[in-house]
Amino acid sequence: MRKAFLVVNALLTLSLIAQLYFAALGVFSPPEDELFRFHAMNGRFILPVLIIVWIVFGFIARIGRTSIILTFVGLVLLALQTGYFLIAGAMGATPPPNEYTPGATPYVLALHGLGGTLLLLLTVWVFFRVRGMGPLGRSSAETTASEPVTSTPTT
Ligand code: HEM
Repeated sequence: MRKAFLVVNALLTLSLIAQLYFAALGVFSPPEDELFRFHAMNGRFILPVLIIVWIVFGFIARIGRTSIILTFVGLVLLALQTGYFLIAGAMGATPPPNEYTPGATPYVLALHGLGGTLLLLLTVWVFFRVRGMGPLGRSSAETTASEPVTSTPTT
């Protein structure tokens, strides 16, 4: 089951790397081409689904309390990606095509780039944490007392 978790983790990381590409695609293309839609679609549909599956598989694969907490931190970081827009909107910013970013709202909106990057790094960290838990193919619960445990602590 841990293998399945790692596969989902890898897909999530790849989807986040694609998300950065799609952001740049939107920025470097004419607005009328609406190429930002790939970023919006991946961010609104694919990433949330992958994160939920990631968390569920984390529980099933018994990846350890700290790693589970880290997956929830990932969920919060993804939710904040929308949250920054909502906060800036509450401060008076308006979305394209009549974009208006008064006062400190650009600084709030810029957290979107930082938060997304943190989320990407978090998924890489969790991947290597969980992969380093020991041999794949069995969860910690399936390890029998007769077999020596060679994995690192997973607290
Ligand atoms: C891996 C990093 C990133 C992640 C995970 C991410 C995630 C998201 C998500 C979830 C949304 C949908 C928000 C919603 O409408 O509820 C979104 C929209 C958006 N993101 Fe990002 N984002 C990332 C990087 C960036 C960067 C670097 C930019 C800089 C240009 C950017 C600019 C935007 C814009 C302008 C939208 C609104 C798109 C629209 O509604 O047409 N994002 N992003």
